[in-house]
Amino acid sequence: MTGAIAVTDDGAVRIIRMNRPEKKNALTLAMYAEMTRALREANQSDVIRCVVFAGAPGTFCAGNDIADFLGAALGGGLDPRPLEFMRELVRNERPLVAAVGGVAVGIGTTLLFHCDHVVAATDATFSTPFLKLGLIPELASTLLAPMRLGYARAFSLLAMGRPLSAAEAKDAGVVNSVVDATAVDAVALKAAHEIAALPPQALAVARRLMRNHRDEVAERIETEAGHFAKLLQSDEARAAFQAFFARKK
Ligand code: COA
Repeated sequence: MTGAIAVTDDGAVRIIRMNRPEKKNALTLAMYAEMTRALREANQSDVIRCVVFAGAPGTFCAGNDIADFLGAALGGGLDPRPLEFMRELVRNERPLVAAVGGVAVGIGTTLLFHCDHVVAATDATFSTPFLKLGLIPELASTLLAPMRLGYARAFSLLAMGRPLSAAEAKDAGVVNSVVDATAVDAVALKAAHEIAALPPQALAVARRLMRNHRDEVAERIETEAGHFAKLLQSDEARAAFQAFFARKK
């Protein structure tokens, strides 16, 4: 485990907490690997029946670490760890709950399309500025966002990079409930225990049926990843990554 991902079990509920607040929980390659491991282990466990993704106070996740994008753009190539996490999310059979406070950027938002129950704080904001970085949306969000939000809202979020507030995300069907920031984790954990107490066999069948587009999701992740890898090497992407780190200097 890296210190930046804290994995704890509360009875039948596993909590995967992103904990790199000094960088707004931007995900490093090691953090992806740790989340993949924690999720896979939950899937194989006879005890864990539900998994919660949580963040640090005021920060859910600022997306992929842009330093890693820059490293890949400058010749390092695309590391497989983010893609392995995405594949694990699709393979995963455990219901997923998210407790979102503060910023949810990039994969911090697209991850939510794979969750079964999302609790957001009133201060939560959801954004996917992929295009502004010269990239395209990932994690099958090009499929799931239009399906879940409708095309107009999906284009505004995914292509134009316009953020959604917590209330808008609830209205769009991405978020189940909006609560005070201090209550997000507790409300999400309560929902997770409620889910974990459901009859596991019936739950597994119902969930599988409700996600009957799993093959399409898996395929879309690979298609997006192919485009993403090429765009990462583009001049416009490289310039956007460098501009991010130069912005305050
Ligand atoms: N990758 C790398 N570092 C990141 C990061 C990311 N995705 N997001 C934030 N950070 C770092 C900042 O560089 C800063 O580091 P520093 O203190 O060493 O300068 C630190 O985290 C705090 O971020 P800061 O921008 O000062 O906080 P803020 O509250 O003003 O803004 C965000 C928060 C999330 C809105 C802003 O950091 C941001 O836009 N981040 C980039 C998000 C993004 O584009 N992610 C990729 C999606 S595809």
